[in-house]
Amino acid sequence: MKIAVGSDHGGFARKADALDFLRSEGHRAFDMGTHSEDSVDYPDFALAVAKAVAGRKADRGVLLCGTGIGMAMAANKVPGIRAAVAWSVETARLASEHNKANVLCLGARQLDAGLIREMLKVWLSTPFGGGRHEKRVRKIMRMEKDRGRLSR
Ligand code: RB5
Repeated sequence: MKIAVGSDHGGFARKADALDFLRSEGHRAFDMGTHSEDSVDYPDFALAVAKAVAGRKADRGVLLCGTGIGMAMAANKVPGIRAAVAWSVETARLASEHNKANVLCLGARQLDAGLIREMLKVWLSTPFGGGRHEKRVRKIMRMEKDRGRLSR
């Protein structure tokens, strides 16, 4: 898969490890920055990765900041993006199986590198479950299309 990977300063070190891991698994992982531990604003990198995924330049996106939370908030503002914060192998798996997450947001200050590798592997290899989950994901995407108007 083509995978866009971005971080802020809080996720910088873990991003390098995630890129190495994804490449070792045969993915085409590209580094969307940041490129040092100098303080930056996480929405800038969330936007770059989210645009790459929404614009089909990447199949998936990975975003790392201190908690994963700010990255998810920002990435989910981009139409077409379903960004999930995951904090365990199980939540990474469910982000694919139930939520069809196309961007995974990780708390680099909360998770060690080994766990992040396991989470990435499971998230990328778990298929979307479809069925009842398809209906629910469609409702989310319809909310986006309706620009927040709550229709059923
Ligand atoms: C940066 O200090 C921190 O706020 C950021 O990495 C992230 O955790 C935001 O959600």
